[in-house]
Amino acid sequence: MVQVAVMGHGVVGSGVVEVLMKHAQSIAKRAKEEICVKKILDLREFPDSPYADRFTKSFDDILSDPEIRVVAEVMGGLHPAYEYTKQLMEAGKSVVTSNKELVAQKGAELLAIAQKMNVNYLFEASVGGGIPIIRPISQCLAANDVQEIAGILNGTTNFILTKMIHEQMPFSEALALAQKLGYAERNPAADIEGQDACRKICILASLAFGRHVYPSQVHTEGITQITLADVDYAESWGGVIKLIGEVKMQESGKVQMIVCPMFVSRESQLATVDDVFNGIMVRGDATGDVVFYGKGAGKLPTASAVVADIIDCVKHFKARKYLFWEDGDPNYVEDYLDNSVSMYVRAAVGDHADAEEAIHRVFGKVDFLTRRDAGSEELAFVTLSMPERVIDEKLEELKKSGVTVAGKIRVGDF
Ligand code: HSE
Repeated sequence: MVQVAVMGHGVVGSGVVEVLMKHAQSIAKRAKEEICVKKILDLREFPDSPYADRFTKSFDDILSDPEIRVVAEVMGGLHPAYEYTKQLMEAGKSVVTSNKELVAQKGAELLAIAQKMNVNYLFEASVGGGIPIIRPISQCLAANDVQEIAGILNGTTNFILTKMIHEQMPFSEALALAQKLGYAERNPAADIEGQDACRKICILASLAFGRHVYPSQVHTEGITQITLADVDYAESWGGVIKLIGEVKMQESGKVQMIVCPMFVSRESQLATVDDVFNGIMVRGDATGDVVFYGKGAGKLPTASAVVADIIDCVKHFKARKYLFWEDGDPNYVEDYLDNSVSMYVRAAVGDHADAEEAIHRVFGKVDFLTRRDAGSEELAFVTLSMPERVIDEKLEELKKSGVTVAGKIRVGDF
């Protein structure tokens, strides 16, 4: 029998205990060992829990218990999760986690400790909830040179955008519903401002290309500026708006990375990824595009990935799983303003004909978009692809002709 501990009894933590108990027999068969939850760490009281006797408020009860060999860290946040994870691995225990913030900030360091201590640090649940994506990138696609990853990586924002697009539900109502369903972060700003998606694309980029990318290196925009007018224009263009995390390897050995809302063509497989689902496209040189799809948030999908990692640890006490990346480099991510992109622009204008003439003069060819109920002082267009810095310069120049930007959204090319 293998004793494990679970740190955190929130949405994911309670799901981990539930899955371990409910599927105890089949898990024992797969792990070739019975897995027993010995301790659950949480500062709150759970007197009505059927496992009330296993709760502790003391981290030391787990750290100093030699019987506990695997710990699920599902507390979230950087501190004290970082310190606890380090201490546990230094004490010879394997750690599994759903904590994307910690992996995105400290992954290189924690993986190095795991390697040194010959234990495992696994984090399948940190990206894509219940979707297998960490193992596929590190193992199944290992024969490929990954060229690009683009994904809908945040369930909460995808849920909100879906409600806005299909039900015209106001933003705040959709967010409240996502919180009620257990999708959102404790502080939902991390969802709607794009940081959660940023952490996840950092983890995928680090894994795929072997060098740590820190969230602070990635230009990140959320969905708070998206209006129903933008949603309508996206439809008339032939697509939908999705919050996308993207990384592309360049010939220079540096990466282009960004997290932002994008126009996604109806032809793209990511366009039909709705509600709390995530979709992740991995472009490999041998495989071409491979797309992963499933529930990206929620109690049981995420718990399923955490428990799978626990099983993997139990099966690999002797032979360590190889998961590793080098530390980062401040020059590794290119300035996003140098990326070539096609841009949708919604602008406030005076006279339509004058504005159209000015836009053509400054940008050359553009595609004008239309929508029902557009006021006479509104114009929307999509530019050709050019460096974003150039687009910004041209938009600045347009101001002199009375064309001012009310919103802009990059156009995805996948
Ligand atoms: N808040 C996250 C999301 C949870 O909505 O995707 C899963 O990481």
